[in-house]
Amino acid sequence: MKIYKTPNLWNSAKKLIPGGNGLLSKRPNRYLPDYWPTYFKKAKDIKIKSLNNKNFIDMSNMGVGASVLGYSNNFVNREVKKAIDKGIASTLNCREEYDLAKEFLKNDKFAQNVKFARSGGEAMSIAIRIARANSKNDKIAFSGYHGWHDWYLATNLKGKEKLKEHLLPGLNPLGVPKALKNTVIPFRYNNIKDFKKIISRNKIAGVVVEGSRFEYPHKDFIKEINNFCKKNKVCLIIDEITSGWRETIGGVYKSVGFKPDIVVYGKGIGNGYAISAIVGKSKYMSVCEDTFISSTAWTERVGFVAAIATINFFKKNKVHKHIKKIGKYLTSNWIKLAKKNKLEISINEFVPLSKFEFKYENKDYLNTLFTQEMLREGYLATNSVYISYSHKKKDIDKYLKSCDKVFKFISNAITNKKNYLYGNIKSMGFKRLT
Ligand SMILES: Cc1ncc(COP(=O)(O)O)c(C=O)c1O
Repeated sequence: MKIYKTPNLWNSAKKLIPGGNGLLSKRPNRYLPDYWPTYFKKAKDIKIKSLNNKNFIDMSNMGVGASVLGYSNNFVNREVKKAIDKGIASTLNCREEYDLAKEFLKNDKFAQNVKFARSGGEAMSIAIRIARANSKNDKIAFSGYHGWHDWYLATNLKGKEKLKEHLLPGLNPLGVPKALKNTVIPFRYNNIKDFKKIISRNKIAGVVVEGSRFEYPHKDFIKEINNFCKKNKVCLIIDEITSGWRETIGGVYKSVGFKPDIVVYGKGIGNGYAISAIVGKSKYMSVCEDTFISSTAWTERVGFVAAIATINFFKKNKVHKHIKKIGKYLTSNWIKLAKKNKLEISINEFVPLSKFEFKYENKDYLNTLFTQEMLREGYLATNSVYISYSHKKKDIDKYLKSCDKVFKFISNAITNKKNYLYGNIKSMGFKRLT
């Protein structure tokens, strides 16, 4: 398949919208500089039509993790359309806020209360406010990525490298009040030594970890965190914005054994419609009666309706089982294909977010080449796939045929030491575009 230059619209957009759009992870330079389709016209299940009417199959991150069922799910859409026809906002509240709260509490047995927001980052900010409002202390110990807000970016007031091990390294805390320095301290995932050092030197209001990213949390890491939080009455917040509703009904915390006080969901729970949830023990959550947390957009109807429909569909179709099965199938076949084509790769543990790594020094080049050659095969593909319910075995088999071809190409590229890229190597970090 012929590949086309990134539409000029992106260059125009960068002039109007600083950064080009609202989400770093949808910038074309993170995939295939100069040639990434960048804009979609239509999306259904795992199919995406670009602005110039080319059809692609999504074997990348499915809307940056937002579409667990597949794009534009009929059932969810039907429920949302009904809600739109009835009206999605009024002076009065919609009952679906209550219905969704009940639904979460059925699944998160440890909790008695729920608050809703729309984006993941704002839900995390709410959780942090709740932890701090319940404590005499301010400091938050955390691991992982948790959004763009001041509480989180304040980490880098101590040095730009502080977020190095947490998904997005080098973020500039420009505009974050300097008074927030030392209010938030990172520890590496699965690193008990880091964690112990922090808790021995600081008075902590809350501990934040992701349920999982690409690896599972280790048993002794979980135990250390659970014990510390319980013994010292420190609020344990598990961020399941990306890990939740993929491998279990609810959060990964359930299967690995974290004992949360608060769990935060976002992204996938609305299958692309904006909704996020803070689910927690009333002994922590009830402080929301005293600390002001409130927004007009948090009460609109679409988010609640979409989440109720997504959760119903998820449970009825046992979506988590499908995702895990497909993830195992995909990752085991990557290994087979790499062996066949004499490529050194490793794969990750948490298969709902399946990922392989080229074990070569120039892996950014190889990843970009993979994306370029897979695009020529008709795929939006990176080295990681966020599996959805719409990825069926026949889709994976077809994809693996292309993958075989592209792995062979990459293996030759490594031997030939030639540059086969049409454009530049992808750059993952946050930087100025203009
Ligand atoms: C674990 C985690 N927390 C928080 C966020 C922020 O969510 P949002 O982009 O919806 O603000 C993300 C987004 O990637 C995430 O993966």
